[in-house]
Amino acid sequence: MENKNPPFFLAPMEGVSDLPFRILAKECGADFTISEFTSSTALTRGSVKSWTKVSTHPLEDPFIPQIFGGDINEMVKATELLCNNESVDVIDINFGCPAPKVCRNDAGAALLGKPDKLIEMVEACIKVSSVPISAKLRLGTGSGEDTALEISRRLEDIGIIRLCVHGRTLKQGYRGEADWSKITKIVDAVSIPVIANGDVIDANSASACLEKTGAAGVMIGRGAIGNPQVFHQIKQELGLIKSNAPWIKDEWLNADEIQQEFIARSWCWNRYVELTKLTGIDNKNALKRHGISFTKHLPGGSKFRGSLQEVKDINELATRVLTWLENGSKKIRM
Ligand SMILES: Cc1cc2nc3c(=O)[nH]c(=O)nc-3n(C[C@H](O)[C@H](O)[C@H](O)COP(=O)(O)O)c2cc1C
Repeated sequence: MENKNPPFFLAPMEGVSDLPFRILAKECGADFTISEFTSSTALTRGSVKSWTKVSTHPLEDPFIPQIFGGDINEMVKATELLCNNESVDVIDINFGCPAPKVCRNDAGAALLGKPDKLIEMVEACIKVSSVPISAKLRLGTGSGEDTALEISRRLEDIGIIRLCVHGRTLKQGYRGEADWSKITKIVDAVSIPVIANGDVIDANSASACLEKTGAAGVMIGRGAIGNPQVFHQIKQELGLIKSNAPWIKDEWLNADEIQQEFIARSWCWNRYVELTKLTGIDNKNALKRHGISFTKHLPGGSKFRGSLQEVKDINELATRVLTWLENGSKKIRM
């Protein structure tokens, strides 16, 4: 690894990277977090739901809201509105979303097929912004030549401060493997930091990705869902962190590998629930989704998730998940 202390990013993920989860990921070792993508149209129309997505708390530092849109004027207006919030450190623009409802409006990854419009949009946002602007790209649309390399060079020229590149095309969605070699070409072509993204799930893949791409840092998405402790695990295995994770106590040291996983997850789940209260972001659907994710890839998890179907009260669901994780850590698996 060229960079001795590469930053680790929690990926912006709709329905996952809510404020409590972002703070949790930071407490688990992530260096940077980015909000779920938020529609510039909805922000300019004052949607409470969208403004909640781009809210923060002093425990989240730096604060990087991510926006998307197909209309340059709305993107400019959303940038101006976000700049009214003194907590905003950087605004990230999404050119990676493959969802048809987004791409249909000439937004997200669809703009990779219209480099001139993409550049015009970013230039207009940079012009009105009092904070730096970064961007997250895929490799291209998947129709014709990949455009991310050319776009990255142009984004550097107009003053973007950082790029994150997900090594897949719009057409690929989440299929196939992320092509890290194409990220390498972008890293070599620009002088600004490039963060590599796609298929990093553990210490081996993180160091292989950093080695292969020469990127300034890595971003982890799916590997952190229900599993935010992955940041600490990776940093510890790569010798990048000295301090113990908060869940590492006597009980953890005497536990087997599976018990350790249960212990780490129960600490994280308990903390997530605490953070929903602390931040006031206690969206019931998000709590349920996260609760389910925290039980994945654990022995007995599938059966346990089945038993959650009958639970109507969200506080009861939160408690049941915690009890199940705590019992797993003591080998009382149900
Ligand atoms: C559930 C989900 C939601 C996502 N939402 C966003 C988003 O809001 N903004 C964004 O830039 N990318 C979004 N992505 C893409 C991720 O940020 C990331 O680029 C992608 O998952 C590849 O990284 P990974 O292999 O580490 O998961 C999302 C991905 C997932 C799985």
